[in-house]
Amino acid sequence: MVPAVEFRSVTKAFGKGPDRHVALDNIDLRIEKGEIFGVIGYSGAGKSTLVRLINALEKPTNGTVEVSGTPVTGVREAEVRRIRRDIGMVFQQFNLFRSRTAAGNIEYPLKVARWPRAERKARVAELLEFVGLTDKAGSYPDQLSGGQKQRVGIARALATSPSLLLADESTSALDPETTQEVLRLLKKINRELGVTIVVITHEMDVIRAVADRVAVLAEGRIVELARTFDVFADPQATPTRSFVDTVLHNRPSDEELRRLSELHGGRLVTVDIDDRRGIGAALATATQADVRFEVVYGGVSTLQDKTFGSVTLALHGRDDAVDKVVDELDRRSA
Ligand SMILES: Nc1ncnc2c1ncn2[C@@H]1O[C@H](COP(=O)(O)OP(=O)(O)O)[C@@H](O)[C@H]1O
Ligand SMILES: [Mg+2]
Repeated sequence: MVPAVEFRSVTKAFGKGPDRHVALDNIDLRIEKGEIFGVIGYSGAGKSTLVRLINALEKPTNGTVEVSGTPVTGVREAEVRRIRRDIGMVFQQFNLFRSRTAAGNIEYPLKVARWPRAERKARVAELLEFVGLTDKAGSYPDQLSGGQKQRVGIARALATSPSLLLADESTSALDPETTQEVLRLLKKINRELGVTIVVITHEMDVIRAVADRVAVLAEGRIVELARTFDVFADPQATPTRSFVDTVLHNRPSDEELRRLSELHGGRLVTVDIDDRRGIGAALATATQADVRFEVVYGGVSTLQDKTFGSVTLALHGRDDAVDKVVDELDRRSA
């Protein structure tokens, strides 16, 4: 299948001579149709530049960018406009017209695309319903909450039925609860309308909630790219570990381990838990062998419908008995 987006050896540099700054450095990337693809990175990593290359607001210094198999650079302006019509854009600061109502904002791209009035009205009503804002049709942005404003922004982005939606920090101005609400809407757009979504963020929670796959961008390079579950379960690159640590608190840091050791004594072991590996059987062995145990740290939750987490146990008992339990914990798997 033709990918939704493809970067081939793309470099983007700004400035010249000593002011030259490489924002993206030799990026190869393939985003498949129908997926929610996450891009995470710290501020300045090159995320927005990547988005602006997709909708041809920037030209690559080297390499090529294709959207649905069509190059977006080196083509005529009319062709760029045609490609852009198939791309919806959602912004951090919503970018709504303050002087237009929710309905008026959503209608705007349809006016630009010269839709007849009756069809515009019908489409706007449909979109308001889809994002759950039918009762806010006549409200102005100043009368809407952040989450409502973003839902208007999303409805506007969907107005002309694009097959690709680019969301650059679309939840970064929202509180955590509203963030989840907007992310649920993005998921619904992907699952029900089949729209490919590129979610750009600096928050790992956002990736965790919606992304099927994620690329970690650091200093203009992709340092990791994998399925979201695998990135959480087994992060490879240093920036990836830092991002994962911001949301998963199931493993104690070295400092916490020292503190736990002072507090509880005994032998501390940390065990990963997933759908295939529980600790019930090993703990039964512990009881039989007269080894006392205490859960001193950890967390188990689900990630993309799979069980995921770890617990840290303090084991107390005779050395050889504790050894046996640790072996059992290491070995266990259903
Ligand atoms: N138009 C521009 N002119 C000069 N430098 C730019 C321009 N756009 C972005 N940059 C630089 O490129 C780097 C990446 O920027 P950006 O893509 O906005 O990062 P992010 O969205 O990850 O925060 C930054 O160092 C930024 O200052
Ligand atoms: Mg940015």
